[in-house]
Amino acid sequence: MWPLISTRSAVGDALGGWPPPVLDPAGPYANPLATLSWVLFGGAGLVFLVVLAALWIALFGTAARKEKLGGTRAIWIGGVAFPVVVLSVLLVWGLSMTGSLTAPIRGDEMRVKVTGEMWWWRIAYLGADGGAVLHDANELHIPVGRPVVLELESADVIHNFWVPRLSGKLDMIPGRTNIMRIQADAPGVFGGQCAEYCGGPHALMGFVVVAHHSEDFARLMTARRANIRPPAPAHPDLARGAQLFGSAGCAACHRVAGTGANGAAGPDLSYVGSRQTLGAGILPNNRGTLMGWIGNSQAIKPGNRMPPYSMLSSDDLRALAVYLEAQR
Ligand code: CUA
Repeated sequence: MWPLISTRSAVGDALGGWPPPVLDPAGPYANPLATLSWVLFGGAGLVFLVVLAALWIALFGTAARKEKLGGTRAIWIGGVAFPVVVLSVLLVWGLSMTGSLTAPIRGDEMRVKVTGEMWWWRIAYLGADGGAVLHDANELHIPVGRPVVLELESADVIHNFWVPRLSGKLDMIPGRTNIMRIQADAPGVFGGQCAEYCGGPHALMGFVVVAHHSEDFARLMTARRANIRPPAPAHPDLARGAQLFGSAGCAACHRVAGTGANGAAGPDLSYVGSRQTLGAGILPNNRGTLMGWIGNSQAIKPGNRMPPYSMLSSDDLRALAVYLEAQR
């Protein structure tokens, strides 16, 4: 029996729960969107009540009332002046909000390139010169209280980057770099989801953003850049897992920093053991889900690019899972 998709996945966190994530902003780029949502909801509610009142008059009102309701004055006010004023105000307000999201990149800002791929996220932390200094996948680490510039690209079709509690959504378009900023006000884990239909398992293309205190974030990045890893817990399967990772062909598609595995087609696995999720945001990360994913990810996320490894025995799968758990 393969593990079921957990409702506690990043995708679930991005889209579900109460309050809805869009109305529960956790940073300055999401706050105005929540405000905008409430204003639109309130305004639409008011308009709905006015329409109901007009309907009531049209059905049950006196002749004099009905005549007033259908008069030229009522049509000019309700049908022309009101929509023009309200829509113009909303347009100007909306445009004024998007300015800060797309402002030109300043030299001191942290930059990360996120590339949408069918159906996962390639992540590259960029240095000041714009070159990649660290690679990862499906999990983005950021410091709190600081805007992070995301350079959004696509390797194949149009995807859309969306972390509802941290910012709005923005398309990732092949051949183009779109700039977006996110910021978290407090440490936490924030679910994200591809928000543009991109074929097959689009609905299962999730990710997480992990916001750390700035000292913790600096420590994490420094350690990873120097390839200093927490010691792997001793396990009798560890060495066999490492050997299988090479012989089963994993390294053809996956990279593990500091080893000979340097494949670039699939997600970077250098830190897969410390990730919160597997399969791009859809499964909790533990030994069972790792074994299930490697053995037959097609049963979990049909259509994804990872072939099933059903020829591996459960002992082999466990050894591989133990090896991957140690990649932190
Ligand atoms: Cu990627 Cu939808």
